[in-house]
Amino acid sequence: MPPHDRETRHASRGKRGTTGREATGRGTTGRGAAGRLTLREPRHEDRDQVLAAQSELAEDDFNFALWDFPEASAEQTWERYLDKVEKDRTGTDLAPGRVPATMLFALVDGQIVGRVHIRHQLTPALLEVGGHIGYGVRPGYRRLGYATEMLRQGLDVVRRLGIERSLVTCDADNPGSIGTIEHCAGVLEDTRVQEDGTLTRRYWIDLS
Ligand SMILES: CC(C)(COP(=O)(O)OP(=O)(O)OC[C@H]1O[C@@H](n2cnc3c(N)ncnc32)[C@H](O)[C@@H]1OP(=O)(O)O)[C@@H](O)C(=O)NCCC(=O)NCCS
Repeated sequence: MPPHDRETRHASRGKRGTTGREATGRGTTGRGAAGRLTLREPRHEDRDQVLAAQSELAEDDFNFALWDFPEASAEQTWERYLDKVEKDRTGTDLAPGRVPATMLFALVDGQIVGRVHIRHQLTPALLEVGGHIGYGVRPGYRRLGYATEMLRQGLDVVRRLGIERSLVTCDADNPGSIGTIEHCAGVLEDTRVQEDGTLTRRYWIDLS
């Protein structure tokens, strides 16, 4: 899979597992808060929250922002990141094997709680693992229905791209992601064994 689409290798095998709410104690807004969740594109003022999320999700071996600018000052790096996100969305200067993709942050009451990354088309690699949408929720905000709401809203974005069937994949040992996909009416096509032995569950969601 191209590097910008490689979100996680073994998310549920991270140091923390998949719950992690106790790690920060911020998950106190209650399940009803998912109704206030909105998705939007990255903005200049998001930098500090995104850098925090990037660090938190690294514990899950998950690349939150799909960040690949470790060098340079934080400010310069963030500006380059925003530029890259916009170029990815419009399909400008894409590396070989990459497709246009939209990064959307999920906010609840002004807090970035997660993100979705939407691939506008499938490549052979994404057809195997990755699919149309990847998502992650910050550890302090898990088990509140946020991933389910993020996927639900993300699927609306996929539908608006003209896609009638969305592929969503996850590791077979990631119960949080399995639950999220199945809450969104995912239909399991198969489970495939990757070269490294990882089992990938591949689901289709009808958007027509
Ligand atoms: C997987 C992840 C996105 C789930 O986020 P979340 O906001 O906690 O998910 P939700 O609250 O919407 O839960 C959806 C369902 O999944 C199941 N679930 C969630 N976390 C679970 C866990 N730790 N153990 C077992 N089931 C779990 C539940 O069935 C839940 O629904 P319910 O609470 O109504 O029973 C989050 O744990 C995460 O970001 N993990 C690291 C990155 C990752 O794995 N991303 C997905 C890659 S495919």
